[in-house]
Amino acid sequence: MDEFRYRDGQLYCEQIPVKDIAATVGTPTYIYSAATLLGHYRKMAEAFGLLKPTICYSIKSCQNLHICSMLADNGCGFDVVSGGELYRALQAGADPSQIVYAGVGKTDRELCEAIEAGIGLFNIESEAELQNLASIVASRNARVSAALRINPDVDPKTHAYTSTGKKETKFGVDLDKAHELFKAWNNHKSVHLRGAHLHIGSPVYTVEPYVEAIQKVLKLIHSLKSEGVVIDSLDIGGGYGANYGITDSPSAADYARAIVPLLKSENLKIYIEPGRSLVGNAGVLLARVLYTKETPAKRFVITDTGMNDLIRPSLYGAFHFIWPAQVAKEFVPASRAEKLDLPGLLEVDVVGPVCESGDFLAKGRCLPPMERCDLLAVFTAGAYGMVMSSQYNSRPRAAEVLVQGDRWRVIRRRETYEDLLRAEIEVEY
Ligand code: LLP
Repeated sequence: MDEFRYRDGQLYCEQIPVKDIAATVGTPTYIYSAATLLGHYRKMAEAFGLLKPTICYSIKSCQNLHICSMLADNGCGFDVVSGGELYRALQAGADPSQIVYAGVGKTDRELCEAIEAGIGLFNIESEAELQNLASIVASRNARVSAALRINPDVDPKTHAYTSTGKKETKFGVDLDKAHELFKAWNNHKSVHLRGAHLHIGSPVYTVEPYVEAIQKVLKLIHSLKSEGVVIDSLDIGGGYGANYGITDSPSAADYARAIVPLLKSENLKIYIEPGRSLVGNAGVLLARVLYTKETPAKRFVITDTGMNDLIRPSLYGAFHFIWPAQVAKEFVPASRAEKLDLPGLLEVDVVGPVCESGDFLAKGRCLPPMERCDLLAVFTAGAYGMVMSSQYNSRPRAAEVLVQGDRWRVIRRRETYEDLLRAEIEVEY
């Protein structure tokens, strides 16, 4: 699952006790394990190996340049959804031909930048976007490859905010519209509409929604073929789970076992866009206890991190396993379950310093007794952690640290008070 383990009551990331990092860099700090990230990347590549997929890391899940470079160096492509993400991917050394670009609202500037970069595939989300791309490409006497994002109307059984494959969501076009567009745009001189794209939601903890969506799209591809329209690529999206600890997520091999047989004789170029499943378990957010407080209603552990650093509990009610980074022998956790059967735990709300009651990391969680200055680790925070952080309440963003074996380095310095004001002082017009 990952390289964050307790040894003699100390939490280690690979060979490094996380307390050493806190002593130098302070808290809150995101700590990433290179071995965990690359291990998950390799497992994904192996599991889907029969399909020889292009793996396009969904950069939105954790966009740090150094994390992205590491993946690019290992041959990984990128799934981007903005000009900023494209810029990051290119700066990280991505091969442009292995970049796919989704998103319902690409601006003209972003489309131009992607054309100039020579990206592999535009994942188009509407007829209007297709027309706009075609006119921009035509004005430059160029030709680009594109795929249509299809909304297959399947239920990924995940949080409504991250469910993207049901018909009432803004994503993609329905199957009938896709059929019409593929026929109308067959052999277009500026846009080679050659692929189908799916991304049904995140996280998707069962394989059935993938199978249903892929079967629907294959039916469309086969019927187009019989009408002389060739679709030669299929992007099956992301959404594969990470292990948060409540229930074990299917592994890459479990997803592949259901998906690969559907595609292995289809003669399609396959793309996969995992984010969370690669980087989720590769990161923890390390924080420090500022105070503990007992009221007639509750016990609170107040930390120096909160919704501004990790918004997932507040926004989605998401579960993250939280545990002290230094514990007595009897408190070494045997698993990352929501409730551990250990004597002497206290039920607490783990909250942050932000001035909202929605600022919590966990509610009603049973943890070992904690004191001011104790270190606390929030696990499986590598995906959609730092990227969704904000400076709310004028809180400088956390530092990021990358551990590789017995070495570690800061890959994003902690923001300063000056950083908070920079864009307001350096005003051009
Ligand atoms: N491809 C597309 C087009 C996407 O929109 C996404 C995620 C992915 C791939 C990668 O999904 P993953 O493999 O990471 O699950 N903020 C939410 C998750 C939002 C996901 C958005 N799209 C969270 O914290 O759970």
